[in-house]
Amino acid sequence: MVSSRSGIFITFEGSEGCGKSTQITRLAELLRQKNPDRELVILREPGGTALGEGVRQLLQHADPSVSIVPEAELLLFAASRAQLVREVIQPALHRGAIVMCDRFFDSTTVYQGVARALDPKQVEMINHFAVGGVVPDVTFLLDMEAAQGRERMKQRNAQSVVVDRMEQEPEFFYEAVRQGYLDLAKKESKRFVVINAVLSPDEVSQKILEALQHFNISTLQLH
Ligand SMILES: Nc1ncnc2c1ncn2[C@@H]1O[C@H](COP(=O)(O)OP(=O)(O)OP(=O)(O)O)[C@@H](O)[C@H]1O
Ligand SMILES: [Mg+2]
Repeated sequence: MVSSRSGIFITFEGSEGCGKSTQITRLAELLRQKNPDRELVILREPGGTALGEGVRQLLQHADPSVSIVPEAELLLFAASRAQLVREVIQPALHRGAIVMCDRFFDSTTVYQGVARALDPKQVEMINHFAVGGVVPDVTFLLDMEAAQGRERMKQRNAQSVVVDRMEQEPEFFYEAVRQGYLDLAKKESKRFVVINAVLSPDEVSQKILEALQHFNISTLQLH
């Protein structure tokens, strides 16, 4: 963790359709109300910088004929993250902002290190190189069974024509992702909060709020 920062860094993790975007939007609204003078920075990965948005386009919407081997995928995510940390996250934290990120390096640990079965040690090394010590203060893992996430995605995709590359993986991939996240949350239990994502959006928001209160971040107003 970077000691000179006065900001707060919160990340949201979990498989496709677990409700990350929904909950970030809700928490951002609440924090904006309760901390009107505090800068709030909302980011998504990959993306958040010109370079990162290019990487996002490449990784999520590349023509299916474009081959991306798992090692290249890992490095593309890492490149986007390295840029985001230095161009946006670190300066914002030094200004004292609340930074919320939809996915961060835990996604790489799980998707590339577990589900894609790359060497976890090498993934960890590249992850740390990319973030340069910028680790979240709190990470919310929205946990649900793989099949339930798939069901939500199906409903959401019925309203959209864009399907991304990761959403086309077989069921066992998502089961590995779920288990990978749960194992990681146990290992990094100080900053992880696991929340049952099957609950209603209101209930999930409530649990997030309760957990944030427990973290007792003195500069964050929640009431
Ligand atoms: N607690 C909930 N209960 C039921 N449906 C939900 C809940 N939270 C979100 N949804 C719905 O599930 C779908 C997926 O939610 P959302 O887009 O927030 O997930 P996500 O984790 O951001 O997905 P992705 O990883 O693809 O970005 C949306 O249609 C959303 O309205
Ligand atoms: Mg989302």
